Amino acid sequence: MKIDVLLGLQWGDEGKGKIVDVLTPEYDIIARFQGGANAGHTLKFDGKKHVLHLIPSGVFRKNTKNIIGQGVVLDPLIFVKEIEALEKLGIDLTDRLYLDEKVNLITPGHRLLDALNEQSKGKNKIGSTLKGIGPAYTDKTARVGLKLFQTQKNNFNELYEKLKKEHLRIANSFDFEIDFNLEEEEAKWFEALEMLKKFKYINCENYIPEALKNGKKVLAEGAQGSLLDIDFGTYPFVTSSTTTVSGVCTGLGVAPSLIGDVYGISKTYTTRVGQGPFPTELDCEVGQYIREKGGEVGATTGRSRRCGWLDIVALNYACKVNGVTKLILTKADVLSGLEKIKIATKYQKGDETISYFPSEIEDVTPVYEELPGWQEDITQMQSFDELPDALKSYIKEIERITNLKVYLLSTGADRKSIIKF
Ligand code: IMP
Repeated sequence: MKIDVLLGLQWGDEGKGKIVDVLTPEYDIIARFQGGANAGHTLKFDGKKHVLHLIPSGVFRKNTKNIIGQGVVLDPLIFVKEIEALEKLGIDLTDRLYLDEKVNLITPGHRLLDALNEQSKGKNKIGSTLKGIGPAYTDKTARVGLKLFQTQKNNFNELYEKLKKEHLRIANSFDFEIDFNLEEEEAKWFEALEMLKKFKYINCENYIPEALKNGKKVLAEGAQGSLLDIDFGTYPFVTSSTTTVSGVCTGLGVAPSLIGDVYGISKTYTTRVGQGPFPTELDCEVGQYIREKGGEVGATTGRSRRCGWLDIVALNYACKVNGVTKLILTKADVLSGLEKIKIATKYQKGDETISYFPSEIEDVTPVYEELPGWQEDITQMQSFDELPDALKSYIKEIERITNLKVYLLSTGADRKSIIKF
């Protein structure tokens, strides 16, 4: 058995939550390997909308175990809030959610620094979700962060105070202050930390290979998207973790040879929250149409998402970096009603027309191919044959340029709006 991976191929919000939920019946274990509560995975079923930030999307299926891997940064406060909300829905996770004890903790100081850092950037803001992600990963790399296993040591309070002192020293070096009640946040944080203890702590590098050996099916669930990867994303407008496939090895402690299928998810168009270059952005009525029809509002921040055409230069790059074996397209229903659809197949960069994704995309202009649109409502359609001809041609064109077969097409928000090819 090998571990399969599901990840986003764009700037996040590709509809991963729904797809993991659709795929979970096939899996025994779902594991998050990177990121933190900056993610927002939306699932819709039985007419209700559920948003998860930190907890893996397998929690809504009774027989699925869920793991928060060591590559994740965990804020106990958000974790407990999410657990309590699930308990209200009658979902008890105590025996089905395991935490790697090497997980790094997000402290109130990290959130304070995230807010100060962003504000100090003025108009060059990254558009961070302000969940403390960047500062927590910074401390991890600087070897001063706090790990879950350290909370069980007698000197944990000492370690915490030392880190807090450093955070306050940095906070005091800014020439402005923000409204943040550290003492209050800290009291709630320690209370939440106590509640973490009712969950089982594991070591992923032992647990997952053992589970695979015993014939269990494991899915690694990515958060954010490949273009937000700390190394391969549109730096510096990225998140602070490895969102691409190699993050599975470091985040869960599994060897590359244990990686099986890589499900890559892309919307049939493109969105981005926060700042940063976006070559196919539509600052016009069509962009507004997609935003409204697609409900393109951030699940974590409530911010409006920027919308644009599908960018196949970026998509090909993400497929290559991740070694995608199964391509999944989402939100095809949102494009219904448009007369024409465009896809960027190349970039114009200075005098050159290029088909690779360069390190700098600030100055590229997309070169588009235009295809006919379709008018039909596709949300109830159950097979490829039923789809409008124009959508079939659109999918075929994406398959031709990416050289990948589409595995699933999502045609609406509900669990049932999905077509397997
Ligand atoms: P941070 O990870 O909160 O520091 O945010 C860094 C950048 O990544 C910002 O542009 C965020 O809007 C973006 N980002 C972080 N998490 C997500 C996500 O789950 N979906 C989409 N964008 C995200």
